[in-house]
Amino acid sequence: MTHVQNLDYGFPLVVIDNFYNEQDMEEIWDELNFLCHPRKMKRPEDTGGAREVDSDGSMKQKKSNKGIFLSDAYTNQFISNIVPCTERLFENKFAIFKNHPSWWFQNINLPSSTVLFSYYENGDFYKAHSDEFVATMLVWFYKEPKKFEGGDLEFPDYETADGIPKVEVRNNRILIFPSTIRHAVTPISMKEEDVGKKLGRFCMTFGLFPMSDRESMVSPSDFLTDTPSDSDSEPKLYTPPIITPK
Ligand SMILES: [Fe+2]
Repeated sequence: MTHVQNLDYGFPLVVIDNFYNEQDMEEIWDELNFLCHPRKMKRPEDTGGAREVDSDGSMKQKKSNKGIFLSDAYTNQFISNIVPCTERLFENKFAIFKNHPSWWFQNINLPSSTVLFSYYENGDFYKAHSDEFVATMLVWFYKEPKKFEGGDLEFPDYETADGIPKVEVRNNRILIFPSTIRHAVTPISMKEEDVGKKLGRFCMTFGLFPMSDRESMVSPSDFLTDTPSDSDSEPKLYTPPIITPK
């Protein structure tokens, strides 16, 4: 059964367990297994991750993993299996988040998103960084029984009575928090025999943001109609523009 935790670690955080039902999970695993292929997954430098300055002054990736943007995989993200399942989360104007005591969640309205699928295996990590979205939503999966250690999410700029806030990685677990809050994925360790078998940590990152300027532009005729429209608040996933080669 779906379980929602409204947390406050000095910043607001929602953790949702078992959001996806059995049928969703079957379809999601079809997609994860399809995408998680060495030919399809790109290196960190090709998926726009955070970078840092190395000791020799060069720029170095903060993450070690493989990834692919769904907008690179499909021209229409609704071809994806996970995207339509996840839309349910945003129903009724993000109602599931409105019980959080924080103003941030009570006022959330981020109808656009970009989706990155990442896969972590032995030795992979993501050092502390913030994201360039408004809200970051992470969706975690792994094959059970779990064949790796680590892969939890830490928030190193905050402190609780138990130390740095940390959310344990779990299969079918969703996290959502403000993108400006720095977060890090702890290093993964796996047995050699389990490497290369899709037994690592799967993460779908939904970067949520308000409608882009282009999407929110209204034509003069929009002011002339009385027809009520709540399309502004409908969740909408980013579909890249179609570029016609000249
Ligand atoms: Fe991130």
